Amino acid sequence: MSASAHDFPEPIFDVADLSTFELFSPVVDETVWFFTNLLGMIETARSGDSVFLRGYEDPYAHSLKITHREKPGMGYAGWRATSPQALERRVEAIDRCGLGRGWVEGEVGVGPAYEFTTPDGSVQRINWEVEYYRPEKDQRSVVLNRVQRRPLSGVPVRALDHVNLLSLDVTANKRFFAEQLGFKLSEHIVLGDDVEAGAWLRSMTRSHDVALVKDAGGGGRLHHVAFLYGNTQHLIDACDVLTDHGIEFEAGPAAHAISQAQFIYVFEPGGNRIELVGTPGYQVTDPSWEPVRWAQDTIDDAIIWYGSPLPAEFDTYGTPHSGPTAYRTPNRYVTAEAGMILRADPPARF
Ligand SMILES: [Fe+2]
Repeated sequence: MSASAHDFPEPIFDVADLSTFELFSPVVDETVWFFTNLLGMIETARSGDSVFLRGYEDPYAHSLKITHREKPGMGYAGWRATSPQALERRVEAIDRCGLGRGWVEGEVGVGPAYEFTTPDGSVQRINWEVEYYRPEKDQRSVVLNRVQRRPLSGVPVRALDHVNLLSLDVTANKRFFAEQLGFKLSEHIVLGDDVEAGAWLRSMTRSHDVALVKDAGGGGRLHHVAFLYGNTQHLIDACDVLTDHGIEFEAGPAAHAISQAQFIYVFEPGGNRIELVGTPGYQVTDPSWEPVRWAQDTIDDAIIWYGSPLPAEFDTYGTPHSGPTAYRTPNRYVTAEAGMILRADPPARF
């Protein structure tokens, strides 16, 4: 039986989805080359040390901002509220819990945003006002529910999908997303001592919009940001193109049991881990969904449904990187520090 009104909290649906993401790169030109030439994203603006991009089904004028920094990592994850009132409610809640940083100016299609941090210090933003991307006439699709034509460059990703944050205390960060932002827990990994090693949370119906996994380092680092293909063939086509252009695979193509998503993990030239999603994960429409609990003895199944195991460094490498610099991918040893991953054997790119 479902829970009664006495013990069922009123759900919060104030956050729509992940709409923007800022990635730091020490080699901006190469990172932009990766996202535009190989993954077919479209450059929409440049400002200062930053380049703004979007996938062809991202609705706003940018979904990815690439900014120059000495070390790779993330600037912020930007969430769009479901209404102006929802934004007000979330700002008030975040402010009350003491993690608010204040308002920041809008940029390139995304209006003013309220900036805050997770308990681990990972920077997040939430906003309401946006400008929709308006394609030039020659980029308009005959498919009127599509933002624009599918680009002819590389193997184009459709859109920004989700973010995975390394967390010192998974439970504390999970509670923050749940209590202050209204995210619902879809699945989690709970170890023998009852410590949560991972949590996958959704804002609406996507299996997860944010994942939190245990950080062996200091917490608050980027594990990966993911972009959606939406079908298997495009992911396999991307494997072909990326391999031929010297992009190092970390894992896949394979499928996670958690979320059921089909994936590859690669390193963009700046050193950040990028996940490309083929067949997307499941949708949750059940309002009383019972979070799936993966215990110690089922972790291997949770992480890999089918495909080869992940390398050990998958659990420890994040950006900015704080551990050993020797990273063993399935194919070769590479240096994990920013920009060095591919430079040991640079392919001809430009
Ligand atoms: Fe992911």
